[in-house]
Amino acid sequence: MTMDKQLVWVRDPNEGFILAKIHELMGEEADVFPLDNKYPRRVCGFDDIFPAGDSKKDVDDNCELMFLNEATLLNNILTRYKKNKIYTYVANILLAVNPYEDIPDMYSSNTIKKYQGRSLGELPPHVFAIADKAFRDMKSLKQSQSIIVSGESGAGKTESTKYILKYLCDLWAKGAGPVEQKILDANPILEAFGNAKTTRNNNSSRFGKFMEVHFSNKYQVVGGHISHYLLEKSRICTQSAEERNYHVFYLLCAGAPQELRAALKITKPDDYLYLKNGCTQYFTTPASEKKITDNQKSKQQKAKGGLRDPILDDVEDFQRLHQALSRVGLSENERLAVYGVVAAVLHLGNIQFEEDSGARGGCKVAPAGESALGAAAAALGVDPAELRMALVSRLMQSSRGGIKGTAIMVPLKVHEAMHARDALAKAVYSRLFDYIVHRINASIPFQASAYYIGVLDIAGFEYFQMNSFEQFCINYCNEKLQQFFNERILKNEQELYKREGLNVPEIRFVDNQDCIDLIESKNHGIFHLLDEESKLPKPEFGHFTHSVHKQLAGNNASSRLQVPRSSRLKAHRTLRDDEGFLLRHFAGAVCYNTSQFIEKNNDALHASLEFLVQESGSALVRQLFAAAHTPAKGKLNFISVGAKFQTQLACLMDKLKENGTNFVRCIKPNSRMVGKEIEASLVLTQLQCSGTTAVLELMEHGYPSRAPFSDLHDMYKSYLPPKLNNLSPKVFCEAIVHSFGLSDKDYKFGVTRVFFRPGKYSEFDAIMRSEPENLRAIVDSVLAWLVKSRWRRSIFAVLSIIKLKNKIVYRRQCLILLQKSVRGYLVRRKHRPRYRAIAKLRTLEPNLQQMEAVTAQLSKEKENAKRNIQNLRNSISNACAVIKRNENITKKEIDDLCSKLNKDVEMQMAALQKAMVDQKNREEQERLRKLEAEMRAAEEAKRAELERQLQEEENRRLKAEMEARRKAEEAERQRQHEAERAAAAALRLQLEQAARADRESRDRLEQERRDHEMAVRLAKETNGHVEGSPPQLRSFPGMEPYNGENKLNRSERVRMQQAMQGKQKYDLSKWKYSELRDTINTSCDIELLEACRHEFHRRLKVYHAWKARNARKTTMDEQERAPQSIMDAAKTPRLPQKGEILGARHRYFRIPFVRPSAGAAPERRGWWYAHFDGQYVARQMELHPDKAPVLLRAGVDDMQMCELSLDETGLTRKRGAEILEHEFEREWARHSGPPYSPPHGRAH
Ligand SMILES: Nc1ncnc2c1ncn2[C@@H]1O[C@H](COP(=O)(O)OP(=O)(O)OP(=O)(O)O)[C@@H](O)[C@H]1O
Ligand SMILES: [Mg+2]
Repeated sequence: MTMDKQLVWVRDPNEGFILAKIHELMGEEADVFPLDNKYPRRVCGFDDIFPAGDSKKDVDDNCELMFLNEATLLNNILTRYKKNKIYTYVANILLAVNPYEDIPDMYSSNTIKKYQGRSLGELPPHVFAIADKAFRDMKSLKQSQSIIVSGESGAGKTESTKYILKYLCDLWAKGAGPVEQKILDANPILEAFGNAKTTRNNNSSRFGKFMEVHFSNKYQVVGGHISHYLLEKSRICTQSAEERNYHVFYLLCAGAPQELRAALKITKPDDYLYLKNGCTQYFTTPASEKKITDNQKSKQQKAKGGLRDPILDDVEDFQRLHQALSRVGLSENERLAVYGVVAAVLHLGNIQFEEDSGARGGCKVAPAGESALGAAAAALGVDPAELRMALVSRLMQSSRGGIKGTAIMVPLKVHEAMHARDALAKAVYSRLFDYIVHRINASIPFQASAYYIGVLDIAGFEYFQMNSFEQFCINYCNEKLQQFFNERILKNEQELYKREGLNVPEIRFVDNQDCIDLIESKNHGIFHLLDEESKLPKPEFGHFTHSVHKQLAGNNASSRLQVPRSSRLKAHRTLRDDEGFLLRHFAGAVCYNTSQFIEKNNDALHASLEFLVQESGSALVRQLFAAAHTPAKGKLNFISVGAKFQTQLACLMDKLKENGTNFVRCIKPNSRMVGKEIEASLVLTQLQCSGTTAVLELMEHGYPSRAPFSDLHDMYKSYLPPKLNNLSPKVFCEAIVHSFGLSDKDYKFGVTRVFFRPGKYSEFDAIMRSEPENLRAIVDSVLAWLVKSRWRRSIFAVLSIIKLKNKIVYRRQCLILLQKSVRGYLVRRKHRPRYRAIAKLRTLEPNLQQMEAVTAQLSKEKENAKRNIQNLRNSISNACAVIKRNENITKKEIDDLCSKLNKDVEMQMAALQKAMVDQKNREEQERLRKLEAEMRAAEEAKRAELERQLQEEENRRLKAEMEARRKAEEAERQRQHEAERAAAAALRLQLEQAARADRESRDRLEQERRDHEMAVRLAKETNGHVEGSPPQLRSFPGMEPYNGENKLNRSERVRMQQAMQGKQKYDLSKWKYSELRDTINTSCDIELLEACRHEFHRRLKVYHAWKARNARKTTMDEQERAPQSIMDAAKTPRLPQKGEILGARHRYFRIPFVRPSAGAAPERRGWWYAHFDGQYVARQMELHPDKAPVLLRAGVDDMQMCELSLDETGLTRKRGAEILEHEFEREWARHSGPPYSPPHGRAH
C-alpha cells in the first residue's frame, strides 16, 4: 500500500522525532521517508510512528493539539521554545523549559497583574497562572495547595519557585509588611549556603525544600515556613574538578570585607584543602571582578578570569547575603559567628595528620596543619589542644563501668583522624545550614494561618554513571512523588470519572509501589538493611550489598533489583555483585555503588568530638550541637540519615496528600546551559521521566477541568439576572452550558459536577465574565434555552399523556379478556364432568376397533364375538346420549355408567385376548415342533456329513495304504527282476565259458585225432607201430546245448514245478470240472481250495488258449474277458507272489477300456471293474457307454470272466487301478448286481 500523503512523526535517537512520509505499510512496521534529506529512509515499528498535525503551529495547551501524542507534544514544546514561549500546558500541568536568558517582561509587575485572578488558559501559559490557580483553588475549595516543581538539575526549579513566591507575595503580601521581604530573602540565604556550582547548573540547589506561604482567612499572606531535605554533605569536603563547594565559601573569600577575612583568616580558595581540588574561580561580573584583590584570587581565577552567570556574583552576593541575614533577624555578631563557623570548616579541612612514631601507634597533627588547627579551634571556640586530642583519638567508654565506666582514649590512624576531621566539618556545616533555616523560619512568626500554598523544589530523578547514597535518597523521593503524581492525576482522575459516570476509557500507568517497598519496607527494605548493617560491630558495605541481593533480588529479568552485571552499561558491569546494585526506577535503571553507603548513612560524630563542640566557647557552635539536635547516643540507638529522610518525606507526603496539587514540570533544554538551544532527545527523556506523556494519554480522553454544580451556581449567579438565580444549581448549569453552544464533546455532566475538556472551562469562564453586552446575549440565550427546554418538557408531558391513554385502552382490553376467561372457566368447571365423561366414553371406540381387529384374527367363535362388540358399541352410544340429554345428572351416576361400560369393554377385551392367546399358543407349539424337526434333520445331516468326512478320511488313508503297497510290490518285483537278470547273466557267462572250453577241447581232440590218423597212415606206410588209442570227443550230459530251440520258458517251468508240487499233495488232474467247482464253493480246506482254484483256472486258460487258437478268424474282441491291456500283461512271464494262498485278500480294481469299433463308428470307451478273491476273479463288471452293463460272477459266468490270476493281470502294479470295496459295491449295486456271497467257510 502506498500512502504518499500521510505525514507522520517518526522516532529518532538524536532528534526525538522527525517528520516523515509513510511510503509503505508492512505488517507491524512501515517504510518511511524522512522529509529532511539528511536523514536516511528507514523502517519503523508502529509504536514509533505518530500522526502529525500542522508541525508549524503551536498551541498553549497540548490538549488542544489535533493529535495528542509524544511527538506532537515534543514538537509543540520545541516550536514554542524557539519563539521564546517557554511555558506550555498539558491540561493543568505546566511545562516550563529553562530559557537560560531573561525574556523581556516575562516576570514584570505588569505581567503579575495581568495574571491575577485569571483562570488557567485564559492567558498564555505561565508559572504565574499556576500560582494564581493555586491561590484561587485555595480560596474556592478552602483547601491548602501545593505546587510541586520538579525537573532535573538545571531545569529551572529554583527559579520557578522564586517566581511563584514572588507572585504570591507581590499580590497578597502587600499588607504583610516585612513578612514578604523575609520570605523573599530566604532564597538568597538558602542559596548561599545550600547551592553550589555543578557541571549541570551553576547555581545548583544541593538540598530540597518545601516553602510554605501562609494565608489568613482573608487570603492575605501572614507568614511562611521552610522545610529542607537532604543537604549534600560530601560536597563540603570534596568536589570534582569542574565543580565548587557551597557558594558561601567563595562569597567569604571574594566578597567579605578585608577585616572580616583577616579576622577569620580567610585568604583564597587555593589555600584550602576543601576548595582547592575543585573549581576555584569566582562568579563575577566585569565590575565586581575589579573589587577582588590578587591575594584573594586563585591561580585558576588569575589564569582564566571569573565565571559568568547572570544571577551569580560572589562579590555582590556576599553583600546581599549579609543584608538578607540581617533582615531575617541575625545580629551583626550572630552573622559574624555564622561566618566564623564557615571559616572554621575551611580551617578544619587544612588540619593535616601524620603518623605518630610514639608507642601508641596513632597519629599526630602534621606541622603544616598546626596553624589551621589553631584557626579552626579559634573559629569554633574550642581549646586547640582539646581539638587536637579529639581529632587524633577517640573516646571509648568501657561498657562494664556503666555510665560511670572508665573512659579510654583510643588513638586513631591517619586515615581515621582525617575521617573524623571531615565528619566534624560536615556536621558543623550541615548543622549551620539547619540553624540558618531555623532562624529564617523563626523570623516569620504567624499566629493565624488558615491555609497555605506550599512550593516544593526538590531535585528530580538523578542518575550518573555511578551513583551513591545521595542519588539513592533523591530517587527514592522521586519514586514517592511519582506515585503521588500517578495517584493524583491518573488514579484519582479515573476514579472520579467512574464515580461521576463519565464513561472514559481506563489509562494504564506503571505502578511503582513495588519499587518503593523495596526501598522503604519496614523489615526488609534497603534502608532497613543499611541500618541493620550499621548496627553491626564492624559494618561492611560488601556484606550490606550481599544481603540486599540475597533478600531483595528477584529471579526474573523483570524484577526491580538486579546485580550490576545485568546492566546494559559496560561501566556498571565492572562492578562486583557485592559492590553495588541496579535499581530499576520508574524512569529507568540506576546503578548504585554502595561503597560509601554506610558512612553517608551515619552522620553521627564520635563521642570526643561531640563532647568538644558541645562545650564550645562559641554560643553559636554550642547551639548547633545542642542536645535537641544531637541524636541519641550509642550505635544501636542512632538515627540514620536514611531514617531521618524517610520520616521527613513521610511528613511531606502527608502534607501533599491533604492539599490540592498543582504540578510544574521544569525541562532543561540543553546540557550546555545556554539559551536558544534545544536538544530534542534530552527534552523527550525528561517528558517521559516526569510522566507527562502518560498524562497526555489520559487527557486525550479525559476532562481535566470540572466544577460542582453548586460552585458554578454560586460563582456566576451574581452575573445573571435574579430570575435565573432561582434555578436549581443543576438546571442552572445545564441552562448556561447548553446555551453557550459548546460542542457535546467539550463537556460532560457528571452526577455532582460538570466536566470540561481542556481549555473549555476557561472559555466558559471568560464568556461568563465578559462585557455586559455579551452577558446580555448570554442571558437571552439562557432564557431561550429555558423556553426551549420548557417547550420540550410540555411536549414530553403531552406525549406522556397520550402514552397514558394508550395504556388505559390497553388495560381495558386486558380486563375484558380476564372476564371472558373467568366466565369460560366457570362454565367449563360446571359441565366438565359430563363432557369429560363423553370424551372418555368416546375413547373406548378405539378399544372396540382393536377388539374387532382381534376378532378378525380369531379362527373360532368369530360371529359370537362380533355380536358382543356391537352390543357394547350400542350401550356406549346410549350412555353418551343419556349424559348429553340429562344436564342434572350427578357425577356419581356418570361415574357408575362409565365404570360399568369400561368394565364391560375390559371384560370383552380380556375374553378376546384370552382366545387370541390360546390360539397363539397353539400356533406357537406347532411352530416349535417344526423347528425341532428341522433341527433334528440338520443334526442328522451334520452327522452324515461328519461320517462322510470320516469315510473320506478313511478312504484317503486306505488309498494311501494301497498306493504304498503297490509301490512296495513294485519295488519287490523290480528287485526280483534284477536278481533274475543277474542270475541269467551269470548263467550265460557260465555257459559261454563251458562252450568255449568245449570248443577248445574239440579242436584239441580233432588235432590229436588227425595226428593219430597221420601216425597210423605213416605206420601203415612204414609198418610202424602206433601207440595209444584215438582220442574221444568229450560230452556233458547235464548240459543242454546252448541254442534257440532248446531255450526253456522259465516261468512255464516254474508253473510246472508248482503243478508238480500240487500234484504231490492233491492230484487234481483227474478231477472233473464240476467237482472242482463244488470244492471251490464248499471246501474249508484252504490249501485244497486254492489248489482247486489253480487247477480250475489252469484248465480255463487252456480252454481259452485253445478257443483263441481256433477262433482266430472270428471277432475275438467281443469275447475278451478282460481289457486288452490285461491280457497283454499276462503274456509277460511272472513269478508267483509268495504267501498268496494264506494271505488271500479281496481286492477291487477299475480300469478303462477301449474297444475298437467296426467301420466308421467311434471307439467305444468304458469301465472294467473286477473283484479278486485272492488270486482269482470273483466278480467282474463291464460298463459300456452304449449298452447295458455286463455283470459276471465266478461260479456262474466263469467262461466269460477273466481267467488270469491277479499276478498275471498286472493290475496290482497299475497306478490308480485299485479301488476301495465300497466303491466297487456302490457301482455293483447301482447296476443291480446281486449281493456277493463268498464261497462257503471263507471270511470276506
Ligand atoms: N525562567 C528562567 N529565566 C531565565 N533563566 C532561567 C530561568 N529558569 C532557570 N534559569 C536559568 O537556569 C539556571 C538553573 O536554574 P535553577 O537553578 O532553577 O535549576 P534547578 O532546577 O533548581 O537545578 P538544581 O536541581 O540543580 O537546583 C538558573 O541559574 C538560571 O540561569
Ligand atoms: Mg535548584
